[in-house]
Amino acid sequence: MARSAFGRSDAEIDLLVRGMRSGIAVVGFGYIGTVIGAVLADRGWPVTGIDVRQSVVDDINVGKTSIAEPGLGELVAETVRIGRLRATTDFGAIVDNDFVIVNVGTPLGPDYEPIVDDIKDAAWALGEHLQPGHVVILKSTVPPGTTETLVRPILEEASGLRAGVDFGLAFCPERLAEGQAVHELTSIPVVVGAVDERSARACATLWRHALGVDSVIVDDPRIAEMVKLADNMWVDLNIAMANELAKVCDKLEIDALQVISAANTMPKGGSPVNILRPSMGVGGYCLTKDPWFVNHLGESLGLHLEIPRTSRTVNDTMPAYTYGLLTQLLADQGKTIENSKIAVLGIAFKNNTGDCRLTPTKYVVDLLEESGCQLSVHDPWVAGEEAETVTKIPLTPDIETAVKDADALVVLAGHREFHHVLLGRLAELTAAGCVFLDGRNSFDPAAARAAGFVYKGIGR
Ligand SMILES: NC(=O)c1ccc[n+]([C@@H]2O[C@H](COP(=O)([O-])OP(=O)(O)OC[C@H]3O[C@@H](n4cnc5c(N)ncnc54)[C@H](O)[C@@H]3O)[C@@H](O)[C@H]2O)c1
Repeated sequence: MARSAFGRSDAEIDLLVRGMRSGIAVVGFGYIGTVIGAVLADRGWPVTGIDVRQSVVDDINVGKTSIAEPGLGELVAETVRIGRLRATTDFGAIVDNDFVIVNVGTPLGPDYEPIVDDIKDAAWALGEHLQPGHVVILKSTVPPGTTETLVRPILEEASGLRAGVDFGLAFCPERLAEGQAVHELTSIPVVVGAVDERSARACATLWRHALGVDSVIVDDPRIAEMVKLADNMWVDLNIAMANELAKVCDKLEIDALQVISAANTMPKGGSPVNILRPSMGVGGYCLTKDPWFVNHLGESLGLHLEIPRTSRTVNDTMPAYTYGLLTQLLADQGKTIENSKIAVLGIAFKNNTGDCRLTPTKYVVDLLEESGCQLSVHDPWVAGEEAETVTKIPLTPDIETAVKDADALVVLAGHREFHHVLLGRLAELTAAGCVFLDGRNSFDPAAARAAGFVYKGIGR
């Protein structure tokens, strides 16, 4: 039986959570679920991961995860070893837990619409085992209304219980960024939109003690659902702006990063302007779909929105733009791509992660593969099967072999390992006058030029 986090007084919930006696079930043990589950277990809570994929469950139970996120592998290994984290495919396991956090996937459909099938399936399976006192927290990114008009009726019908009366229900968007996920989970405030005040208070107590973070309680789940979309709409649009600024700066031959860092000193609306950095593209599981969720939402409301479509379109131009820069840089050296040796460094969708889902690097690699150039690809974060989603070419395991005699180094993910090799050493290994195209603006242009490279960043 669940020990009833919902329906107790604030002081009782506080004691329950403080005493780390409340078990937490994490449904959907993919990228986000594994980070949340491992961090909660590391901070002292008994965690049960529930996933429909047997391979994920088997991996976790031997202390392994295939998710390449800094620090995550160690947390999983240790928390499983000490018996605080386990995984199962059996939804019946929720009865031993007070809180149930749902993080199943919400991909984009063929018409750029949100697919919420996994949420429905998880809600039916959960509902069958729901007990009075459970607090269910949905964290997957969803269209506004999902918690109240999709999840709530399924849970109520399957369990015969009532949300806000017998069990707690809330939406708390997950806003962490891959690459910094473990740290961000315990530092970013959690937005809580619950179906009633008691559910909201139970969530806020959990987050305060479990993660050490404040909650921002909003009036209802729809607001919290919209918060996540608003955040990602802002990020994608902001990067689109930085990318167009970079294109202008490239033509003017001025440094976009200097423009941006100086522009960002202007206060506006109570905090400084915060233009993000241009790069070779935007990818991953969130920014490539969440603006489309907003676009779809607008259409369903009879609105024609320009912003989400525009930001997506601008950011989607960047891989081809990057390839164009490479063509020009080689031409300036009297070379063509097809007659060159090109070394690609990094294929993950962002720095210091091994995630290749919807990575913009794939478009550049595809163009290079089609060009007929001699191509080597190196990424210390990306493992075999994940790499095959990006390139037909087997990855070169070490950087020195990958860059040997290259006419161009093309950095598509600026992993920290690339900075561990001295630029002078890279220059020794590559062909004379080697082009260095820094698609993530993660190197110092002056240092790269001093080492002998023909350096170019995006907008610099
Ligand atoms: N990846 C990110 O950086 C990020 C950040 C914030 C929010 N989000 C959102 O979080 C959600 C999860 O994202 P993710 O990257 O972890 O996805 P993911 O695909 O890595 O993980 C989803 C997991 O859910 C499991 N699953 C599917 N159906 C299930 C069911 N019926 N019952 C139990 N498990 C089921 C899958 O097997 C998978 O392991 C999405 O809505 C995403 O938009 C992701």
